[in-house]
Amino acid sequence: MQIPDSGLDSDTLFQTLEGFRERDLTWRDGRTWAYVYDPGADAEAVIKRAFTMYLSENGLDPTSFPSILRLENELVAMAAAHLGGDANTVGNFTSGGTESIFCAVKSARDHARAHRPEVTRPAIVLPETAHAAFHKAAHYLGVDVVVTAIDAETFKADVAAMRAAITDQTILLVGSAVSYAHCVVDPIAEIAALAAEKGLLCHVDACMGGFLLPYYKRLGEAVPDFDLAVPGVTSISMDFHKYAFAAKGASVVLYRSKDLRRHQIYACSNWSGYTIVNTTVQSSKSAGPLAAAWAVLHHFGEEGYLEIARQVRDGTQRIIDGIAAIPELRVMGRPEMNLLAFTSDSVDVFHVADEMKARGWYVQPQLAYGASKENIHLSVNPNCLQWVDDMLKDLAASVEAARDLPTSPLVGVVGQMFASVDLSQGLDPAVVQQMMQLGGIGGGALPERMAEVNQVLNVLPVKARELLLIEFMNDLFAPAHDQAAR
Ligand SMILES: Cc1ncc(COP(=O)(O)O)c(C=O)c1O
Repeated sequence: MQIPDSGLDSDTLFQTLEGFRERDLTWRDGRTWAYVYDPGADAEAVIKRAFTMYLSENGLDPTSFPSILRLENELVAMAAAHLGGDANTVGNFTSGGTESIFCAVKSARDHARAHRPEVTRPAIVLPETAHAAFHKAAHYLGVDVVVTAIDAETFKADVAAMRAAITDQTILLVGSAVSYAHCVVDPIAEIAALAAEKGLLCHVDACMGGFLLPYYKRLGEAVPDFDLAVPGVTSISMDFHKYAFAAKGASVVLYRSKDLRRHQIYACSNWSGYTIVNTTVQSSKSAGPLAAAWAVLHHFGEEGYLEIARQVRDGTQRIIDGIAAIPELRVMGRPEMNLLAFTSDSVDVFHVADEMKARGWYVQPQLAYGASKENIHLSVNPNCLQWVDDMLKDLAASVEAARDLPTSPLVGVVGQMFASVDLSQGLDPAVVQQMMQLGGIGGGALPERMAEVNQVLNVLPVKARELLLIEFMNDLFAPAHDQAAR
């Protein structure tokens, strides 16, 4: 494929773009229980207008665009007020949870470089439920990760295990509010107290829960303390592009003070072009996501969000009750916001997910890891609430249908194969390719039903899963070389 010789007329151009979406998840119908946080048509119109209004301004240089500086400082102030901050709280707008977490880990690493010269191999201590973004940040930043066990009933961090994992190289303790997989709040006050006792930093990942939890509290729910008001918490992240319903590319990372945030900022004068000084990872960046986030907060206001919290809280409870009435299923832990995970000891949840797909729903399978067995995740969004009864009816039918479906014969073969393989040196990509052909996912293609693939992934060691997924992605993103230009 090549750039067309001459430009397309805009009708053709937009029809083509629209056509590309044919096989996408149809999230606007409210039957998608992950990935998209639909703010509804009115809010969407506001977001789009604000986004396009600031589309081309460049966040690279906030001194040239004071509007960008103002938007960011106002958003950070609103976030700080929302999350127990005070006059010393500082922070920055980022492109998402991953970038916020990346910034927090970088700040911790560089804080240690400045203040703890004895730390030569900085390490962060994470409960096994902490988001993968911490592993990713640590991987990019050359920081070690120590994963600690959780309570297998509540799926909350085990603080004694975190204490035991601290060494003279530890720089940061992490807790979630809420965790993505099970939607629970870790014992943040205890984790932060432990960090303070040991002279360590403490980051709260409130990417998912930071925005809605304060409204849950106002509704009278017993939300554990999790924010900057907790002594010992030194930084916190919160995504606007989740339950504040901002356009994607919108999160914030906050610090207790400038002393810590200083280590987040990067400056480079070591080349012949313009001076670089960036607060976050990105350099040139659209101010669209920033303006859209500011706009959506002003669109809904506290009253709007409180009402959304009330609705999703009530809907989530109806779903939890509905799942409890299906004998084969059980909700894992006690969800503290509007996400939940359920599993089964008698039917294969991966088949259940496929059966739900066949009935027109998207639900998200999660693989077994540590104390968490394989399960299905639901994010309960406002536009899903119209479907609660229908979804539960189809869930019961899906469980019924999944009961007789077989486990892939590959599960035994692959399980045995990996029992004796040393993965520490990686795997020959050719072997991984063979495995993918065997599982029907060669060449970046996925089968219509995913149960077999998920069953196999589920029994693979974590390292093998990762190697396989990397090969899959390496195949999936294949330029359309052989397609005609028009
Ligand atoms: C708890 C938590 N932290 C971090 C992230 C990462 O956020 P993002 O996908 O915006 O990078 C997520 C995403 O779902 C999350 O749930």
